[in-house]
Amino acid sequence: MTSAAAFRHAMRRVPTGVTVVTTLKEGEPRGITVNAFASVSVDPPSLLICINREARSYLFISSSRVFCVNVLAGDQRRLAEHFSGKVRDRQFAEIAYATDATGAPVLGGTLAHFDCELAHEYQFGSHSIFIGHVVSCGARPGSPLGYFNGGFHDFGIHVE
Ligand SMILES: Cc1cc2nc3c(=O)[nH]c(=O)nc-3n(C[C@H](O)[C@H](O)[C@H](O)COP(=O)(O)O)c2cc1C
Repeated sequence: MTSAAAFRHAMRRVPTGVTVVTTLKEGEPRGITVNAFASVSVDPPSLLICINREARSYLFISSSRVFCVNVLAGDQRRLAEHFSGKVRDRQFAEIAYATDATGAPVLGGTLAHFDCELAHEYQFGSHSIFIGHVVSCGARPGSPLGYFNGGFHDFGIHVE
């Protein structure tokens, strides 16, 4: 097996989008920055996210059984930093959001959102893979925020 350092070093060369996965903690909005996100299947519409079981969000997603994947636009780096930080209380105090089907926050100004009901959890290593049934989604014009080589970048590719 390869070393953790070699694995991390090679993973830095993998470009990804950046999302904020929102959920509910006893009815209150919560969010976590996540780049481990992928489509699973079209029939049924489903996706996966990988969440560290030591993250507070892990418990909130497992207990509320709903989450919404918000795909960030190139000018939303501040949101990615906010939701990867250590804000404990009133995490949404200055954040604009709406809701869709599940009640999990849909952040303003994002490129797309996928509102999900938790369908399944697979535990592996430090993380859990959550499979979500997409119950509603939407897409808007803009350019994506990317993560590459340990930093955020506006991909600079605008789609209508
Ligand atoms: C670009 C980026 C991507 C991240 N992706 C993930 C991820 O896919 N899964 C995860 O569990 N944590 C990920 N994190 C780390 C969490 O955002 C971070 O640990 C967060 O503070 C956890 O918050 P919580 O304990 O309130 O849930 C990522 C952080 C950054 C900056």
